[in-house]
Amino acid sequence: MNAYQNTIVENKLKALHKDSEKDHLRIGRGIVKSIFRPLQPIDFKNAYLPITKSQGQFLKKLIIENDCKSIIEFGTSFGISTIYLADAARQTGGKVISTELIEDKAHTAFQNVRDAGLIDYVEIKIGDAMKTLQSHNEAIDFLFLDGWKDLYLPLFQMLEPQFREGTLIYSDNMDMQGTKQFADYLLNRKSSYKTQIVDGGKAFLSTTL
Ligand SMILES: C[S@@+](CC[C@H](N)C(=O)[O-])C[C@H]1O[C@@H](n2cnc3c(N)ncnc32)[C@H](O)[C@@H]1O
Repeated sequence: MNAYQNTIVENKLKALHKDSEKDHLRIGRGIVKSIFRPLQPIDFKNAYLPITKSQGQFLKKLIIENDCKSIIEFGTSFGISTIYLADAARQTGGKVISTELIEDKAHTAFQNVRDAGLIDYVEIKIGDAMKTLQSHNEAIDFLFLDGWKDLYLPLFQMLEPQFREGTLIYSDNMDMQGTKQFADYLLNRKSSYKTQIVDGGKAFLSTTL
C-alpha cells in the first residue's frame, strides 16, 4: 500500500515538473500583457513557478526528520510544493494548510493533490494569505514561504506568535531583491532564530531558538 502510494506521488510530481518546464512560455505571455503596467500576480496565473525536485525532497526530509505535524505553506500555485509537503505530512501524521491568491490555481492545485492521493493531508485556503491565515492560532511546526516576496516579512510577523521552540521556517527566493528586508530581519535576530543559507544561496532555513 505504501509502495503503491509512493508510486502515485512520484508519477504525479514527474508529470507536474515536466509541465512546469513550459513556464517560460506562459510567463512570456504575461509579461507582454503587462507591458504598460507593473507585473501583478494575475500575470502569472498560468505559471507554476515551482520549487525544484531537490528542494522538494529537502523539504520532505526536514519535515520527516523533525516530526513536523503542523505545516503552513504561503503560495500553493498548482501544488507541486504542496505535494512534497503533504507526502511528508502523510508520514508524520500531520497536515498542510496552504494558501493561494488566485482561485483557478487553487482549484487546479486541489485536483493535483487529490490525484497524488494526498488530499486527506491538505487544506487549501483561497485568497490573500494575510487574511486567510490571520486567525490561525495553532502552533506551527513548519512554515514554507513561497508567495510574493513583499509579504514575507508581514506574514512572518503575523504568524510569529504561533512559533514554538524548534519551529522550522524555509524561505525560498531569498536571493531576490524583494526579500532583502526580511533577510535583514531574520539575520538581526540571532537570539531568536538560527538561520542558515541553503540550496546554493537561494533559500534560508531558520529555526526558532
Ligand atoms: C512561486 S509561486 C508558488 C510555487 C509553489 N510553492 C510551488 O513550488 O509549486 C507563488 C504563488 O503565490 C501566490 N500568491 C502571491 N501572493 C499571494 C498572497 N497574498 N496570498 C496567497 N497566495 C499568494 C501566487 O498567486 C503564486 O501562485
